[in-house]
Amino acid sequence: MRALALAVALFALAVVPAGAQEETPLPKQSWSFDGPFGTYDRAAAQRGFQVYEEVCSHCHSMNLLHYRDLEGIGYSEDEIKAIAAAQQVTDGPNDQGEMYQRPGRPSDAFVPPFANPEAARAALNGALPPDLSLIIKAREGGPDYVDGLLQGYKNPPAGMKMADNMQYNEYFTGHQIAMPPPLAGDDVKFADGTKATLTQEAHDVATFLTWASEPTMEERKFTGAKVLIFLLVMTGVLYGAKRQIWAAVH
Ligand code: HEC
Repeated sequence: MRALALAVALFALAVVPAGAQEETPLPKQSWSFDGPFGTYDRAAAQRGFQVYEEVCSHCHSMNLLHYRDLEGIGYSEDEIKAIAAAQQVTDGPNDQGEMYQRPGRPSDAFVPPFANPEAARAALNGALPPDLSLIIKAREGGPDYVDGLLQGYKNPPAGMKMADNMQYNEYFTGHQIAMPPPLAGDDVKFADGTKATLTQEAHDVATFLTWASEPTMEERKFTGAKVLIFLLVMTGVLYGAKRQIWAAVH
């Protein structure tokens, strides 16, 4: 009798998850910044910045970044000056009391696409694109999630009713997202000549966003490694000392 009850319980356990609207598991990618000694692939991060700048920045701000921060992924001072100068920044007031536009400088924060959330919603059927500065930290799965999301657009399964202006996305919670598919492949022409496939663009922009969410990761890992080596050496020294000191007692 007990065996039967157990069998029924196990059967129910096995059946329930399959019947529920389960989430599709995220494919795990391999990243240059994985592991205790991982670093940011500078070339990938620069390509990712290009994708952000040419595609994502039409809708998404990155309020925590300044142009001069791009030094961290290997851009030179002159390149950063040129990247900033291509943007128009609102400054002021001037001595007439008016705000004015001027070309960006390296010390400026990334120029947002919309003046305020209301303007963003008005332009995007009521949807609000989140700021991407910390999105990698803010979502479970981090870079794997963003990488998957950008490639996760599909036709909705038969019978699924989609709300107006919503897209089916395999990895978005609830599968209905207000962001139109931003990438299709060949959306940019990479400065370094890498072929801009959808997979490449998604992987590179996820690398860039990961750097943006933790620009000091490499120092953190390096410090961690130094501390571990120190502890290891110190353990040896103390063990040797202990043996010496207690040798006479044996
Ligand atoms: C046409 C405007 C537009 C463009 C271009 C765009 N997005 Fe979005 N994005 C949105 C909107 C709107 C949302 C909010 C979607 C929602 O909540 O349903 C969003 C949401 C997101 C999210 C958050 C999803 C979540 O889990 O909440 C990420 C990550 C994202 N976009 C990344 C990107 C990246 C990377 C690019 C460039 C390759 C990009 N977006 C380009 C409009 C855009």
